[in-house]
Amino acid sequence: MNMMTQLKSNALFVDQFGRGKRKLRISVTDRCNFKCVYCMPEHPEWMKKHDLLSFEELYQFCDFMVRRGIEFIRITGGEPLMRQGVVHFVAQLQNLKQFGLKRISMTTNAHYLKQYAEALKQAGLDDLNISLDSLDASQFKHLTQKDLAPVLEGIQAAQAVGLPIKINTVLMHGMNENQILPLARWSVQQQIVLRFIEFMPLDGDRKWSTEHVVSEQQILETLATEFTVTKQGHGSAQTTSDPARQHFIDGHPIGIISTITNSFCGTCDRVRLTAQGEFYNCLFAPQGLKLKTQIKALTLKTASSEVNLHDALFTYIWHKEQGYHAIEQRLKNQSLDKSSRKISMHMIGG
Ligand code: GTP
Ligand code: 5AD
Ligand code: SF4
Repeated sequence: MNMMTQLKSNALFVDQFGRGKRKLRISVTDRCNFKCVYCMPEHPEWMKKHDLLSFEELYQFCDFMVRRGIEFIRITGGEPLMRQGVVHFVAQLQNLKQFGLKRISMTTNAHYLKQYAEALKQAGLDDLNISLDSLDASQFKHLTQKDLAPVLEGIQAAQAVGLPIKINTVLMHGMNENQILPLARWSVQQQIVLRFIEFMPLDGDRKWSTEHVVSEQQILETLATEFTVTKQGHGSAQTTSDPARQHFIDGHPIGIISTITNSFCGTCDRVRLTAQGEFYNCLFAPQGLKLKTQIKALTLKTASSEVNLHDALFTYIWHKEQGYHAIEQRLKNQSLDKSSRKISMHMIGG
């Protein structure tokens, strides 16, 4: 598809490789009460509160995007439950289901979930992804600087109110790869969906190196020491844009998100917005698109405000690069190192 074909179709935002955008991730804050080594810098410089888009502005942006084909919205952070008003935002987003929005999800560290699970369910949240990197309390504290117990209580609270959950575990060599088997056993016992995640170069202090990555292959080899590991066959339920590759351990599903060794960029249907209105066509895009002014203008409801935003987004999304490996290669060819990338995980929300 060329740019002109897409201009005529108008509806869905599509990039130059024909990948339509159906999933929008909204980071509502960069703040977090955890300090996960793979995410937060040691000394974070938080976004100023007055620089953040208000929930009303975020809602207007979501409305605009849903009318252009977004079907899934995931609320992220930092830690999204740290921002006052987020439950009401979830409730407000329900209005967009009449225009094609199918699911409203959230990714959280679960520390405050015990307190919020019931309200989130009432507000119509469809599902939750929860970070859990260790079942060992002292290791958990070392990794996050917070206690494990409230997280486990948060998980229980979400289950008790009937919120579907998936657990995310980022693995790092020399840190928590000894948790592969305990977490796998726990997920089977609890009948919870678990995804192991390869560590990506988006940590706040840029300490990432390939040596820290526990690869999909290594994870599978470890699982095979205790479980019968099988892979999902052809014709089964896996959707092409699912970031996780589905495997089974003794018949129980387990996912692996392997951006480094098996990226899913070829089918990427995601775009994301930071809390201060910077839009990213890729998690690894060195440059975002500053949309704060155009998003604020949306609330004026003039025809030109929509056209301006549409035009800016259309061009930026169209030029989305092929994916993680292509971007890394380009930076290398141009002798740019990764420090040209200013964004880190706590600002972009995964
Ligand atoms: P669902 O597939 O809707 O359940 O959500 P998700 O798995 O995409 O979201 P979640 O916030 O739980 O993220 C899990 C992991 O996937 C995190 O490590 C994210 O950084 C990573 N992830 C999410 N979106 C992308 C993406 O577009 N590209 C890459 N490379 N990783 C992503
Ligand atoms: N690499 C991979 N995943 C990460 N996450 C945060 N930082 C990284 C990283 N550097 C994950 C968290 C959370 C999700 C939003 O992103 O575990 O579940
Ligand atoms: Fe999409 Fe970029 Fe992630 Fe690849 S790296 S899946 S292109 S956001």
